[in-house]
Amino acid sequence: MNSQEKIKELIEKRELAKQGGGLKRIESQHQKGKLTARERIEILLDEGSFEEYDMFVTHRCTDFGLEKESYLSDGVVTGHGTIDGRVVYVFSQDFTVFGGSLSETFAQKICKIMDQAMKVGAPLIGINDSGGARIQEGVKSLAGYAEIFERNIMASGVIPQISAIFGPCAGGAVYSPALTDFILMTESTSYMFVTGPKVAKTVTGENISTEDLGGAEVHATKSGVSHFVAEDEEEGLLMIRKLLSYLPQNNLEEPPLGPTDDPIERIEDALNDLVPVDPNKPYDVTDVIQLIVDDHEFLEVQSKYAKNIVTAFAKMGGMPVGIVANQPKFLAGVLDINSSRKAARFVRFCDAFNIPLVTLVDVPGFLPGSAQEYGGIIIHGAKLLFAYGEATVPKVTVTLRKSYGGAHDVMSSKQLRGDINYAWPSAEIAVMGATGAVEVLEGRKISQIEDPEEKAKYIAEKEKEYKNKFANPYEAAKYGYIDDVIEPRNTRFRIIRALKTLATKKELLPPKKHSNIPL
Ligand code: HXC
Repeated sequence: MNSQEKIKELIEKRELAKQGGGLKRIESQHQKGKLTARERIEILLDEGSFEEYDMFVTHRCTDFGLEKESYLSDGVVTGHGTIDGRVVYVFSQDFTVFGGSLSETFAQKICKIMDQAMKVGAPLIGINDSGGARIQEGVKSLAGYAEIFERNIMASGVIPQISAIFGPCAGGAVYSPALTDFILMTESTSYMFVTGPKVAKTVTGENISTEDLGGAEVHATKSGVSHFVAEDEEEGLLMIRKLLSYLPQNNLEEPPLGPTDDPIERIEDALNDLVPVDPNKPYDVTDVIQLIVDDHEFLEVQSKYAKNIVTAFAKMGGMPVGIVANQPKFLAGVLDINSSRKAARFVRFCDAFNIPLVTLVDVPGFLPGSAQEYGGIIIHGAKLLFAYGEATVPKVTVTLRKSYGGAHDVMSSKQLRGDINYAWPSAEIAVMGATGAVEVLEGRKISQIEDPEEKAKYIAEKEKEYKNKFANPYEAAKYGYIDDVIEPRNTRFRIIRALKTLATKKELLPPKKHSNIPL
């Protein structure tokens, strides 16, 4: 072969690899409303930035007739490229080759880029669309999964790991995405479950569809497994690009500080009247968030799950921040099992990747009742407490209204090493609300008053007395638990100035192997 022929051979091989499992299977993939592995990468990465590795890899299996059937790339496209000019590593499972099922060599390809992502300190994005373990390869495939799991674990807290689920993801295969930081699913074309509908029917007799068992909606609203839902794959891939714009490349870097045209000292008069005077009236805390962040823009994480707490990425003065906010619009913003778990994981992610935390507090306490107690609210609530207490990133807290009881301590209070704690004049920082407090403190006396009118008058008087003492931020400010009471309309400026001041913060944890967060 002369050099021209050799080059021709290379080009032909590349073309062949790009066809994956063949044009027919590509067509079938498109008919399902899905893109191919390479088409997905093209949308995800900056144009022309993708460098593919291991295009010429094929499987080594000689059982069940596989010695006669093999495809270049072996069902997964791997390599690196850039997103907004920053390096990322990516693998994209190719459903057109043996249903994207995982073989020994397939796993080795993924492990290779995971190892390199760790060496250079760059995020890893996995696009999942697979029938699971390649059945013909048996135990080698299981070993391949475990190799990936181990790398997911080692990479946790070192580089951001993002999983997109664009098709089936079942059995033990779900655990690689579950070990990563964020899971994104597409509506109607993706599903995740440990055991599918058929097994559920056999074992428990339950009759349930694939969508109802593990579709995007279920994982976004009920299980909390998925962090983001996209209408289609293109939207999902663009969401991943957006998500990365808030994240550093690795745990040793600061998150990307960008210029902003939004004035730092922007005053928002609307904030002065946004919180209703009546502490029992709801409002939407995302209205507060959008008024204080750069360009009114934020990216909510798990927006459909545990809606009584909002977790979101935003920029303030060009700096990425993680925002945690009680949401009075749902369940009065109470802390319960799901909201505690949701916020705890978010706080820990931000802390691992040097993203400052901005906490907006309006919390009436923990949700009472046997359902919560039997479900272990003690342990789950402790997760959020632990996460805040352990976090060493800059922590700025603003109490907007209620901050009652144990929930007050949990929500990034001063004593959990909150760095700068502000309160609005509407804040009420107390052990509990006035009604509850009077019931406890005055219960015996109240029961002795027989005349209903006199009783009501006595209760009202005592509630007023309690409110005057505690339904304000000044009692807490008196002790220095609140650093300053601020005018709501200045909140954006005050938070950004606080974050700038704290930018050089250094706080260490005592030496230990690792902490033992109540899991
Ligand atoms: C080998 C597989 C495969 C697999 C699919 N294919 N799954 N080949 N191993 N696990 C092949 C099919 O033979 C077919 O080949 C092509 O991929 C497309 O599959 P279809 O069934 O035609 O597609 P579809 O109707 O869309 O159904 C997709 C599917 C189904 C729901 C994923 O294929 C399926 O149920 N597959 C088996 C899933 C499974 O049981 N996996 C093992 C689970 S255990 P042709 O040549 O016709 O194109 C597991 C353990 C992991 O994963 C443990 C980790 C710790």
